Amino acid sequence: MGAVYLCAHEVLGRRYAVKVLRPDLAAEAELAERFRNEAIAASRIGGENVVDVLDFGAGEDGALYYVMEALEGRSLGALIAEDGPLDLPRALVLLEQICRALGAAHARGVVHRDVKPDNVFVVRLDDGTERAKVIDFGISRVTLERSGGERLTRAGAIIGTPEYMAPEQAAGDLIDHRADVYALGVLAYEMLTGTLPIVANTPVATLVAHQTRTPDAPSRRRAGIPAEVDALVLAALEKRPDDRPPSMDAFGARILAIRGGLAAPPARARMGAGALALVAVLTAGALLVVVLRARFAAPPPLAAPPAQEMSPPPPARLASVPETPPARDAPQASPPRTSRRPATRRHLDDPDASGGGLKPDPF
Ligand SMILES: Nc1ncnc2c1ncn2[C@@H]1O[C@H](COP(=O)(O)OP(=O)(O)OP(=O)(O)O)[C@@H](O)[C@H]1O
Ligand SMILES: [Mg+2]
Repeated sequence: MGAVYLCAHEVLGRRYAVKVLRPDLAAEAELAERFRNEAIAASRIGGENVVDVLDFGAGEDGALYYVMEALEGRSLGALIAEDGPLDLPRALVLLEQICRALGAAHARGVVHRDVKPDNVFVVRLDDGTERAKVIDFGISRVTLERSGGERLTRAGAIIGTPEYMAPEQAAGDLIDHRADVYALGVLAYEMLTGTLPIVANTPVATLVAHQTRTPDAPSRRRAGIPAEVDALVLAALEKRPDDRPPSMDAFGARILAIRGGLAAPPARARMGAGALALVAVLTAGALLVVVLRARFAAPPPLAAPPAQEMSPPPPARLASVPETPPARDAPQASPPRTSRRPATRRHLDDPDASGGGLKPDPF
């Protein structure tokens, strides 16, 4: 419907991306309205995982345009096509960011309706991390409030990309934000396996297949995908919207929990259990010694010995402060254990780092 141009500001030199709707299409009221809606939807969502829209207008020839920040990087579609399926940690980081973007859209009453890898841009930041940016709200719908507070879009024309369309969207039924949850399930499947969960020979057959066919678990297409990831992706691909994760927040929370599990290496967990067992054995041994000594020790003297016969207390070595600093080449005392602990161990013993306390940014 439009073409995207990379441009530089004539005076400031700063780069922008400008999406233009051809004048002949802009003359069609419905298409012009949809293009306007696209710009408004993106600009009202905002946030770091949605493309920033800065301006909207019409050229002298009548062509409509809107101006966006210029994104440097590749679309997720190009990335999967060129590099193949993504590593699990990388995929989970990007997916969680897309959940945040779509969650923000839903909170503002916008259902994207065309979530797919080509509509997610992956930008590499200066610190080397990646950031997903959702683009192209071209067929997004601002939802209607129903009396029960439920938000739905109007039923009607079947619109979207068949390979990513929820069964209710493929059937032209009423849809809500859970159609995006389904599409994100397809996108996650593709990121992790490099394949689509459901395909058929024609677009119409694909629409039907989304309503009738049950997809394979992602781990059947690519080895090494954990069961929790299979379960999450398959839940998003449930035919009935009620059976899917109820919101993007719920989807994102499950991704964070999976990431938390990946960040706690099992070898360390086993070490922790071993260390606990050792502490338990030592404690039990110490208690036994105390009990035995109490039983078999000589009875205390009836009269306390005179004070001057008591031996002086041993020097409190731990609390003592050397008068002169140790020579530079003398062996240094070990620093306290906590300062030497590798950062990754925080997940095992820092209460802030468990579950919802995990930092959402890349580890
Ligand atoms: N802000 C941007 N910065 C850099 N490249 C962009 C930007 N927006 C879009 N692009 C590039 O242009 C391509 C097409 O953009 P977009 O998805 O908005 O349009 P489209 O799918 O062709 O449009 P439509 O679905 O409205 O016909 C994207 O896949 C992306 O590669
Ligand atoms: Mg697009």
